[in-house]
Amino acid sequence: MTRMVLLGPPGAGKGTQGQMLAERLGIPQIATGDILRAAVKEGSELGAKAKSYMDAGDLVPDEIMVGIIRDRLQEADAQEGYILDGFPRTVAQAEALDDMLEAIGQKLDHVVHIDVDSEVLVERLSGRLICRDCGASYHTRFSPPAKDRVCDKCGGELFQREDDQEETVRSRLAVFEERTQPLVEYYRQQGIYRQIDGDRDPETVRDEILQAIQGK
Ligand code: AP5
Repeated sequence: MTRMVLLGPPGAGKGTQGQMLAERLGIPQIATGDILRAAVKEGSELGAKAKSYMDAGDLVPDEIMVGIIRDRLQEADAQEGYILDGFPRTVAQAEALDDMLEAIGQKLDHVVHIDVDSEVLVERLSGRLICRDCGASYHTRFSPPAKDRVCDKCGGELFQREDDQEETVRSRLAVFEERTQPLVEYYRQQGIYRQIDGDRDPETVRDEILQAIQGK
């Protein structure tokens, strides 16, 4: 049973690591950004509320995010542990999560902060392309698709996320510094915080996270 949070700035590799760790540990990756983007795509009420915040690189209000997580953590697949990717992002969200868990006699086991220099992040995100159909991620320079703007895996169209334009990426990084960075101290005080250097190949980062959480 592992209940963990992946913390890190935009582009640090939370999604990439969350997916690899979920496969390895057999627990779900719960990515709030993915949940919100699916809501925008569906055209739901949640999506309509979230879109303007996301496009501007701002945070969606805490009460909306806490409600999403409260519902998601009650689903059957989350009863044996989970990897939270993109939540919490503010101290208020972290406190709400602690309260939620305490009410059912649970607590978080690990908070892993994937640390990457901001210029590397801007380069990673401003070149990122995502498949509209299967969600696979590419990079115009580091991992380009074989055919321009076409997904190697499913043939779907590749697009740039609205919030991956360089100016918005820089706003997202500033929002991380201001609103999310205080979580480092919050979780350090709980004794469950670990920092990992995320500027290495994804498999090396994954193995180091596994070592950190399995105490090897
Ligand atoms: P979200 O989707 O969570 O975006 P983010 O945190 O900005 O993170 P990204 O998805 O951009 O990056 P990542 O760290 O997952 O990196 P990835 O693995 O994709 O949130 C989007 C928006 O939703 C927010 O701005 C906000 O508006 C809203 N939101 C979400 N949660 C919220 C919350 N709790 N509260 C309020 N609002 C919320 O990798 C990035 C790129 O780098 C990829 O191209 C990848 O292939 C590449 N890469 C990954 N690892 C490596 C590596 N080791 N080496 C080289 N390249 C790598």
